[in-house]
Amino acid sequence: MHELNNTVNEKLIIGSDCFVPLLTEEVLQKRIRELGEIISNDYKEKVPVFIGVLNGSFLFLSDLIKNVNIDCEVDFFKLSSYGDAKISSGTVKLIKELNCDVTGRDIIIVEDIVDSGLSMKYIEELIAPHKPASMRVASLLLKPKSLRYNVKIDYIGFEIPSKFVIGYGLDYAQKYRNLRSIYVLSDGD
Ligand code: IMP
Ligand code: MG
Repeated sequence: MHELNNTVNEKLIIGSDCFVPLLTEEVLQKRIRELGEIISNDYKEKVPVFIGVLNGSFLFLSDLIKNVNIDCEVDFFKLSSYGDAKISSGTVKLIKELNCDVTGRDIIIVEDIVDSGLSMKYIEELIAPHKPASMRVASLLLKPKSLRYNVKIDYIGFEIPSKFVIGYGLDYAQKYRNLRSIYVLSDGD
């Protein structure tokens, strides 16, 4: 049994992999407060719909909207994931559709991480035909060196190296989403 250390920011040994802290809970929450303020300012007099991309974005979305002080709505998409691997399968599938009508609405897509940009491209192409009034993207993390698709991320929490990360919603084989901090796979150096 692997015991999760969810309070102290120490390294995590998972099988033969070692993960080290990258972004602590304090650092994450401070930046999310800032993003909440910026979005509240940008959307004054509007009622945006935050659309979370499941599963990874659920913690970020919930903390983000707690820091937004304007009226807003929330909905979710679900896309197929990496499966149990640490690298993308290179294909995206829609598993759960939106419930709300996005036509004429101000949409903010909320992602945990943009890696190649494939998922975001797919989502943008899915939403665009429904003619929202506006569409922006908020991603907690961006791996700029991994971007392969032309996507614009309007609100970025942190730019990080192109290494595998877990915690705060991000999984490895569906586990470790409940970690309060984000950990990165160590190269061993
Ligand atoms: P993309 O389509 O290549 O941009 O990958 C985006 C999706 O892959 C994200 O929404 C995550 O769910 C997942 N992902 C990308 N990088 C990581 C990572 O380092 N750890 C965990 N999941 C990741
Ligand atoms: Mg995701």
